[in-house]
Amino acid sequence: MNSPLRIALIGAGIMGRQHLQHLSNVPRAQLCAVADPGPQAEAFALECGVPYFADHRQMLDQIRPQAAIIANPNALHVQTALDCISSGVPVLLEKPVGVDLAEVRELVAASKEKGVPVLVGHHRRHNPLIVKAREVIASGALGRLTTVTGLWQLQKPESYFDIPWRREAGAGMLLTNLIHDLDLLRHLCGEVRHVQAITSNGARGFANEDSVAVLLQFENGALGTMTGSDAVAAPWSWELDSGENSVYPQQPDQPCYLLAGTRGALSIPQLKRWHYAEPGAGWHQPLHQVTEAFTADEALRLQLEHFVAVARGEAEPRVDAADAGRTLALLEAIRAAALSGRACTPATV
Ligand SMILES: NC(=O)c1ccc[n+]([C@@H]2O[C@H](COP(=O)([O-])OP(=O)(O)OC[C@H]3O[C@@H](n4cnc5c(N)ncnc54)[C@H](O)[C@@H]3O)[C@@H](O)[C@H]2O)c1
Repeated sequence: MNSPLRIALIGAGIMGRQHLQHLSNVPRAQLCAVADPGPQAEAFALECGVPYFADHRQMLDQIRPQAAIIANPNALHVQTALDCISSGVPVLLEKPVGVDLAEVRELVAASKEKGVPVLVGHHRRHNPLIVKAREVIASGALGRLTTVTGLWQLQKPESYFDIPWRREAGAGMLLTNLIHDLDLLRHLCGEVRHVQAITSNGARGFANEDSVAVLLQFENGALGTMTGSDAVAAPWSWELDSGENSVYPQQPDQPCYLLAGTRGALSIPQLKRWHYAEPGAGWHQPLHQVTEAFTADEALRLQLEHFVAVARGEAEPRVDAADAGRTLALLEAIRAAALSGRACTPATV
């Protein structure tokens, strides 16, 4: 049996530390170093019992890790991943994969050219309930997917915006939060051909958006809406409904995605599926409901287990840089549509 994979952490903030908590439950891997220039990072590395570096490039040279988790600020993602790739180190790169498509294309090319894999941290795709939802859709139980409704409606506390960059242009809920929902809509419903969108900063009045309404036309013909706001006292969001992260008190009865097809409909995260008993039946007949069974598990730990397999060359990344780039392209199309008032097509990566 192989000895545990030596993984370095680059960026030991909130998310980096969450990854480490889950890493302690992954026997095939162990932390080997922490790199982070922040004021608390050295003490944290000491607590973890691993060498500390302010600069990740020095860490790569001296420690030669077998893999790295990158959870530093968004604007540093691509350059940090490029540094790892040039040292031959596979990465689990937090989302968003980058801040614009031009830099993401550079990352996709480098990963391919050097043969060093990049797994992007769209961890919800590893959640067993999403795996089950994909199976239900693929089984044909919904028929032809026709309408899709995505909801991300919650209230961030005012204190969240005490940190200045969170009030600035570019750092709104689209890139920070809705990118997860848009990624899941692509994952569940397929690629998006066109979007139209309206954004607003009317609830909080900061430079960035607090609310958004998006119209989506999928390549398979399905039509969708995604509405989002971080300024509403409402229960409809993956965070509050899925129970994935216990820091958010759960609203287990409330859905965040509703998928409807010609033969059935599915609510997520409840995985309630509706259908008629007979083909050709309609609104005068009873609509039956079943709950699809799945075994709940920790998406972040499952993502790490997958990353270990990717770094060892046993699996292809479930979400590579090009795939995550297509989610960023969708987000950029939404921004362009909101600015221009026109329908926009996501760029190719
Ligand atoms: N997957 C998710 O659900 C999820 C949730 C939250 C955050 N994130 C992502 O994780 C990343 C980090 O977010 P966070 O909330 O932990 O932020 P954070 O501010 O708590 O942590 C960022 C850390 O990066 C460090 N850092 C700054 N410059 C660095 C550098 N040059 N090299 C190494 N480290 C550096 C900071 O000192 C800090 O410790 C972001 O990209 C964010 O989008 C993902």
